[in-house]
Amino acid sequence: MEKNWLMFCTGVIPAISSTVRKLTTPAEKIVIQTPVYNIFYNCILNNGRNVLENRLIYNNGQYSIDFDDLEKKLSDPQTTLMILCNPHNPVGRIWNKEELSKIGELCKTYGVTVISDEIHCDITDPGVKYTPFASVSDICRDISVTCITPTKAFNLAGLQTSAICIPNDNLRHRVNRAINTDEVAEPNAFAIDAAVSAFSDGQQWLDELKAYLFENKKIVNSFMTENKMPIKTVTSQATYLLWLDCSELPLDGKELANDLREKTGLYLSSGIAYGENGRHFLRLNIACPKTVLYDGLNRLKSYCDMVS
Ligand SMILES: Cc1ncc(COP(=O)(O)O)c(C=O)c1O
Repeated sequence: MEKNWLMFCTGVIPAISSTVRKLTTPAEKIVIQTPVYNIFYNCILNNGRNVLENRLIYNNGQYSIDFDDLEKKLSDPQTTLMILCNPHNPVGRIWNKEELSKIGELCKTYGVTVISDEIHCDITDPGVKYTPFASVSDICRDISVTCITPTKAFNLAGLQTSAICIPNDNLRHRVNRAINTDEVAEPNAFAIDAAVSAFSDGQQWLDELKAYLFENKKIVNSFMTENKMPIKTVTSQATYLLWLDCSELPLDGKELANDLREKTGLYLSSGIAYGENGRHFLRLNIACPKTVLYDGLNRLKSYCDMVS
């Protein structure tokens, strides 16, 4: 990464929305890989563009990419942009080099630019590395708009800061005009100092955080197994979010999340917010102290006991 590839923006979502407006026209199609971070839908629909879903394949508790379907969606002449989530919220996958390079080749073939949202890149399992989309090939580098930020790993979202990395000069110029026109290109004083100190002095803290989150993940998995819960945890390598397969429970969608909340006070995200194929899932945030985690798990267990 070179310094002059980077531009400041007031957040990843402001960066994505602004880029969507600049690089596409109303009614064009934007590919997302569902289930995916719900606000991607807003960035597309609120700007009058259409969502084109490339549904991820769910098999044996793991997610993978349906490349035949992806090619079909990218080859639609109305498709001009793809928003990639790497690592993927909510399923926790870190896409590998082969997958990323295949996405890059397909997008290049069909003239599609890729926004790679890498906001969760610092929160991987200990010892696990993520692969930046732009790093895997010259093709990927040339068609990419990558969004990064210290706000997830260092819990700084309130300070509104992110960086957009674009190696391609022409693309960078266009996005630079977009974020300046939208007035989301200038940092506030707190954001500068916070980002600099997080990235300069936060390594030890981040390592400890990652170790803690990994323990939390293990706690969730063993709790589910030991209590023979009718819920499966999807295997993940990154993020502090766990994607829970609740297809054995009697309710689904918003009803499931609402019923769980009403009966136990536990507030998990309803999977359907991330796409129709998230209907039978709940998303659990494990970025909390172990006492809170156990409290949540006990509530989840009492709910399962009540309804099954
Ligand atoms: C994948 C992803 N992108 C973007 C955001 C939000 O980014 P920002 O607060 O910088 O707009 C989130 C927050 O949950 C996220 O999970």
